[in-house]
Amino acid sequence: MTNDLMEKIVSLCKRRGFVYPSSEIYGGFSGFWHYGHYGTILKENIKNLWKRRFIFDRSGVFVTDTSIISNPKVLETSGHVANFGNEIFKTIVGTGEEAVTSYLRPETAQSIFIDFKNTIDAHHPTLPFGIAQVGKAFRNEISPRDFIFRDRELEQMEVEYFIKENDWEKYFEEWREIMKNFANEVGINEIHELEVSVDDRAHYSKRTIDFLFDWPFGRGELWGLAYRTDFDLKNHGLDYFDEESGTRFTPHVIEPSLGVERTMLAVLLSAYTEDELGGEKRVYLRFPKNIAPIRAAVFPLLKNKPELVSKAREVYESLKLSAGSLRLEFDDNGNIGKRYRRQDEIGTPYCITIDFDTLTDDTVTIRDRDSGEQKRVKIADLKEAII
Ligand code: GAP
Repeated sequence: MTNDLMEKIVSLCKRRGFVYPSSEIYGGFSGFWHYGHYGTILKENIKNLWKRRFIFDRSGVFVTDTSIISNPKVLETSGHVANFGNEIFKTIVGTGEEAVTSYLRPETAQSIFIDFKNTIDAHHPTLPFGIAQVGKAFRNEISPRDFIFRDRELEQMEVEYFIKENDWEKYFEEWREIMKNFANEVGINEIHELEVSVDDRAHYSKRTIDFLFDWPFGRGELWGLAYRTDFDLKNHGLDYFDEESGTRFTPHVIEPSLGVERTMLAVLLSAYTEDELGGEKRVYLRFPKNIAPIRAAVFPLLKNKPELVSKAREVYESLKLSAGSLRLEFDDNGNIGKRYRRQDEIGTPYCITIDFDTLTDDTVTIRDRDSGEQKRVKIADLKEAII
């Protein structure tokens, strides 16, 4: 991949409403980004799929949503303030004599650890079990760069999986497989694994694998999988009573950690395709259909024929009702060629066109994004065709 590709992605993301520079009318702000309509939906789809695969498809993984700012003791005790010093954003909480300096969390993990006892008291889980979270984290990166690759405000999807020490290799491998399958499911091209050396590992880790992606600027980190030992729970003075053996000990932890923005960028880069269709060059995003922002777009063949427009609206409204959470879009802007190009560029897998035949035989054409092939389908069978 080349930097030329990165320029194309940045430009497409802005032109089509995926990602804008933060505070652009004031010159932007390095390391911060705004997500437009399609970017926000794409991120939501990635996060929802992650929640399914990492939390809800398993048993014994609890979801949580914790505060970004905590008692400053959390990050002081965890070693983050000492080890990452400057990179941590400080903020003042309260006013006057009650003012306290605290921090914006640099990872979602710490607030999971400090809820360990609450989770045990509320759910009485037995080992192994996990606590997961999707949420914002902040890092005052010295050189934010490469579009949304290195940000100062980012979002993480993390699981802290609590285990008995002897089981760590088994669960490390289990989460490694889950991460590889997830990469495949969101359509990320080949990933590479790197065993991180002792010198390069974070202070809390005894083993880390970085999942690497071939970015246009070179091979680099996409996600991490770490064996955090009992470092964090010990630091926070938290332990576990095992009823089976009647012993009290500190569980160990396996942590799959995935950045939302890096996932999104890898998904965009992997999906970007240029080809020729019907003798014309075109660009399309080959998203897997379960993460594409829009599953199907519905058009009238001609904008100036009221009978086609009203039939197209009717098909759109009834499909929207029956398709549940699948997102659909109604589009009658420009001519049909322009609409196809727009939907291709935002990665919509299906375009449904209502034409004059529809008015007599209740069939529509459905066009497949990747092949450009069109077939006629009965309106009654549309839901099946796009699911
Ligand atoms: N809790 C472990 C942890 O935070 P990390 O390797 O520092 O580990 C995990 O971060 C993941 O978060 C990375 O693999 C990457 O996907 C994402 N990430 C980290 N720093 C980032 C940044 N400045 N911008 C975008 N994503 C970042």
